[in-house]
Amino acid sequence: MKREKTQVGIIGAGPAGLMLSHLLARAGIASVIVERRSREYIEKRVRAGVLEQGTVQLMRDTGLGERMDREGLVHRGISLRFEGRDHRIAFDELTGGSTITVYGQQEVVKDLIAARIAAGARLHFEVEDVSAHDVSTSAPKLRYTFAGEQIELECDFVAGCDGFRGVSRDAIPADHLVRYEREYPFGWVGILANVAPSSEELIYASHDRGFALHSMRSPTLTRLYVQCDRGDTLDDWPDGRIWDELHLRLATDDGFALIEGPVVERAIAWMHSVVTEPMQYGRLFLAGDAAHIVPATGAKGLNLAVADVRVLSSALDSWYRTGSPAALASYSDTCLRRVWRAQHFSNWMTTMLHRFPTDDAFQRKLQIAQLRWVSSSRDAAASLAENYVGIAAV
Ligand code: APR
Ligand code: PHB
Repeated sequence: MKREKTQVGIIGAGPAGLMLSHLLARAGIASVIVERRSREYIEKRVRAGVLEQGTVQLMRDTGLGERMDREGLVHRGISLRFEGRDHRIAFDELTGGSTITVYGQQEVVKDLIAARIAAGARLHFEVEDVSAHDVSTSAPKLRYTFAGEQIELECDFVAGCDGFRGVSRDAIPADHLVRYEREYPFGWVGILANVAPSSEELIYASHDRGFALHSMRSPTLTRLYVQCDRGDTLDDWPDGRIWDELHLRLATDDGFALIEGPVVERAIAWMHSVVTEPMQYGRLFLAGDAAHIVPATGAKGLNLAVADVRVLSSALDSWYRTGSPAALASYSDTCLRRVWRAQHFSNWMTTMLHRFPTDDAFQRKLQIAQLRWVSSSRDAAASLAENYVGIAAV
């Protein structure tokens, strides 16, 4: 077994792990990232695409904004579509100027990987059998196999940034963790189509047949989703059925035309909320999807991951500079306030826009009444807007 050393051992090269390593490097703190997948795989993985203002600003402030500012699409609002009409939520007007930026998660990941490699980072892909040890002591370790060699990495701290199916949570004794969870009885079939978006802004549609979302990745790539039943597979959803449902659910009285194009990617995602508390055990800190997941309706997953590692990097910086453990000790509480705000918002958006199998006609009337209120009352619209663009203090 070969022994190596670093200050912070990071499991996972998603947005959380990569951004953490980037922020730590800027503070002069060394890290090693171990990632199970190949670089190509994670750069191609299609995920969410909405950046909050704070995420955009962090990218810019830390030297990652160049391509995002060139290729990202700044959106000043979204549309809620129901009863055959659009109801625009004007983020900038309602929040004192805030906007969101549509820029794919895998583009953020590509920019982070390029920046980390250019800075000479120890970023290892295709690492096998990663496990964390001695995390309750002052000398935690990661063990893994890399390029056929068994490595033991001695660290000051371990960051579990390995996503929802990662291994870092396993290093925490079960009786130290509480898991809060909600499964929704539906998912989204998502497609990426090689065609110009049919609308300039995102459209969240609530229809009697179920939810649909029109989003985009670029002026030539459209991202579309339709609500499907839990348990459906991609075989249940040939392209023709997806387009048919999109046409029906996105239809408007004034003849909205959804433009079809070749489907270049398709996947199903289940709507699921999970929070694991606390987000720390000894010298192991969980960040991003490793600690919490949200249903995609609020577009919060990536932004929460970035917010976590921002708190963590600054707490680690404070520990290395002053020796004070205070900021690290409050990491979990600080992050969980934002996480629960995002859980509430994502749940609120999800229940407002989707059709639940148990919903009766009365429930649908309530949903429509809520949608009319959210889109006609300035205060109600402002509360959606401030949550969507990202709340700074919670
Ligand atoms: N060993 C090493 N790496 C691992 C392991 C393991 N045992 N298990 C998982 N990983 C890697 C995954 O391959 C992935 O690249 O950890 C990374 C976790 O990245 P993400 O799943 O992207 O999670 P995170 O960085 O927290 O970002 C959250 O991702 O799932 C989306 O919508 C979510 O936008 C949110 C964002
Ligand atoms: C996306 O573009 O993939 C997207 C946008 C908004 C969401 C979820 C996903 O709420």
